[in-house]
Amino acid sequence: VRVVTVIGNRPQFVKAAAVSSLLRQEHEEVLVHTGQHYDDELSTVFVQELGIPALEHELAIGSGSNTQQTARMLEALAPLLAQERPDAVLVYGDTNSTLAGALAAAQAGIGLAHVEAGMRSFDRLMPEELNRVVADHLSTLLLCSSQGAVENLAREGIVDGVEMVGDVMVDVAQLFAPRARQRTAMLERWNLKEGGFLLATAHRAGNVDAPERLAVLVELLRGMPLPVLLPLHPRTARRLQEAGTLEALTAGDRVLLAPPLGYLDFTTLLMNARAVLTDSGGVQKEAYLAGVPCVTLRDRTEWPETVQAGWNTLVDLDADAAREAIERPIPDERPELYGDGRAGERVVAELVRRFSA
Ligand code: UD1
Ligand code: UDP
Repeated sequence: VRVVTVIGNRPQFVKAAAVSSLLRQEHEEVLVHTGQHYDDELSTVFVQELGIPALEHELAIGSGSNTQQTARMLEALAPLLAQERPDAVLVYGDTNSTLAGALAAAQAGIGLAHVEAGMRSFDRLMPEELNRVVADHLSTLLLCSSQGAVENLAREGIVDGVEMVGDVMVDVAQLFAPRARQRTAMLERWNLKEGGFLLATAHRAGNVDAPERLAVLVELLRGMPLPVLLPLHPRTARRLQEAGTLEALTAGDRVLLAPPLGYLDFTTLLMNARAVLTDSGGVQKEAYLAGVPCVTLRDRTEWPETVQAGWNTLVDLDADAAREAIERPIPDERPELYGDGRAGERVVAELVRRFSA
């Protein structure tokens, strides 16, 4: 089978690490990077660290509004697909790169496979929710991370081509956990003690783009009972600078800033944190896999199983609720919600089954 894979954002490099090399063992893959993320620390570092094959095409689309970004990607992807003539296009997750890859495939009449199909936050104010819904309704092969995702699709009338394969981020987490666990010396870089700090990430448009929400987020992070390490996403860095709140955030050393970190550094910190505060999608899952409580800075999640299992608490930007969530006892059990770490193999098998000529 010959597959064009379209990726472009930090979490998609992580997800592709579970599939691309495996796919290439017996099949052909053409890897396309849209350039939605272009800073080394959001892209190149992951390609190198996670052993992702060399990229065949870099579209260098760069930043812009959701509309501009998607339009530019579509414009670049149409001739590329005409030239490469794959049996299928593979996309991951819910970003603008996912949407563009999906729509370009559908417009070219090429089969589309979507990894993380069926995730829903049921909040269409999030650009990601629109991207998920559209990608799923255009897909011929819908590769689901959880049973809940399969059920979400069924409610929207999508049953053909739906396969429950497990979550590819589990594969990557399992592969890198032993190495990450050994790197505790890096805690010293920020003078942190095992279990004695909180790891935070925030970049969701709904949390950082509106200055009022951003101000509440800053106060929440400053008011935590333990030191907070915040590897700063460039979107958030920019918004904090625009609002003039970067100094307020770090005053008093309650919040320690770091640049966006590589996967291994980030995973080491995650495994050693008392809890994680995040509005990321992937980090909610990774916290669960690492057995670290997650406090999600949103009012909904597309990963509800982690909440039902008692490991994740939705607090939106309520600082009291966040403090309470951190004090909650850890549940006794952590069931296998997202598969066994072999999702990549199943993704490849389903691609071959569905799209081989
Ligand atoms: C995007 C995805 C989001 C995903 C996140 C992963 C959409 C709608 N959003 O959000 O779902 O969770 O990636 O991290 O697709 N910037 C840089 N350098 C870069 C990239 C971005 O400085 O390499 C800055 C620019 O100011 C840019 C801003 O960050 O305008 C936002 O980048 P963008 O890719 O539009 O969205 P993310 O917030 O990264
Ligand atoms: N991540 C990382 N370094 C960081 C922050 C996150 O390596 O400083 C990884 C994290 O382990 C996860 C992925 O990036 O695998 C999540 O990406 P992000 O939060 O940007 O996107 P989302 O999952 O919300 O779409």
